[in-house]
Amino acid sequence: MTRRIIIDTDPGQDDAVAILLALASPAELTVDAIIACAGNVPVTLTGTNARKICELAGRPDIPVYAGCSRPMAARPLVTAEHVHGQTGLDGPDLPEPRMPLQAQHGVDFLVDRLRAEPPGSLTICALGPLTNIAMALVKAPDIATRIREIVLMGGAYFEVGNITPAAEFNFYVDPHAAAIVLGSGVPIVMKPLDVTHRVLTTDARLERIGALPNACGRAVAAMLNFSERFDLEKYGTAGAPLHDPCVIAYLIKPDLFRGRHINVEVETTSALTLGMSVADWWRVTNRAPNALFIRDVDDHGLYALLEERLARLP
Ligand code: BDR
Ligand code: CA
Repeated sequence: MTRRIIIDTDPGQDDAVAILLALASPAELTVDAIIACAGNVPVTLTGTNARKICELAGRPDIPVYAGCSRPMAARPLVTAEHVHGQTGLDGPDLPEPRMPLQAQHGVDFLVDRLRAEPPGSLTICALGPLTNIAMALVKAPDIATRIREIVLMGGAYFEVGNITPAAEFNFYVDPHAAAIVLGSGVPIVMKPLDVTHRVLTTDARLERIGALPNACGRAVAAMLNFSERFDLEKYGTAGAPLHDPCVIAYLIKPDLFRGRHINVEVETTSALTLGMSVADWWRVTNRAPNALFIRDVDDHGLYALLEERLARLP
């Protein structure tokens, strides 16, 4: 049976690929709505980019909302134009969207929709900083028991940081929001850098996607060719990590992944390690498990899935 999802996202090229993968998989996933968050670029741009992607996929019917413009605490928004370009979606030449942004605030939409549906109906896919989801949980704590699961890209443990030596970008941008979500009691599946750094965009993989006979294949290749240039230099690997599609791939084919139910906490006070996720992988504390922390992936299987699904799009 198809699982209903709400995608909270800051597109971002890898977010865009994740959205396309979800829209290409109607037998497994129904995308109820997309909420734009501030992260890779400000929320005005991520709201536009989310709509560009829906139109690229031929789905202008997907409602797109805009959420919060900055992190919860008194802290400036950290963005990543150095990776994603000034628009957040540099690479392909996509037209300005014609579909409108929804009038309601993304956080209010999330609260209203969760309250309107039977408990356990909706899964949240979190592909950016967790501000909107944490704000909804603070505003309406009753929604926690109504969410089926939160599957998120964020954090790191063995791979440590990509934006500071200690912290992964999504958790670093809003560490307080990450702490609220991890402490919410909602079932959580976490895709940290430990797994996304094993899903590399090699030349052969991008060439195959770029050779698909559709606009989406060409756009994905152009996006990932752009965003990988920074990571190739940074990591010196034969391809850049592919982060956010791991969230959607998990919901389509969970067998591609392996992890452990463990406790994960986020640092919110230390200036040096702010946003660091501390994962009790070896279970050396008696802190209760709060997340399925994914560490292993069948990367060949994931790219085979991505290619097969992208080929279905316009
Ligand atoms: C995360 O940060 C963003 O740049 C990506 O879209 C991904 O969600 C990786 O740290
Ligand atoms: Ca993202």
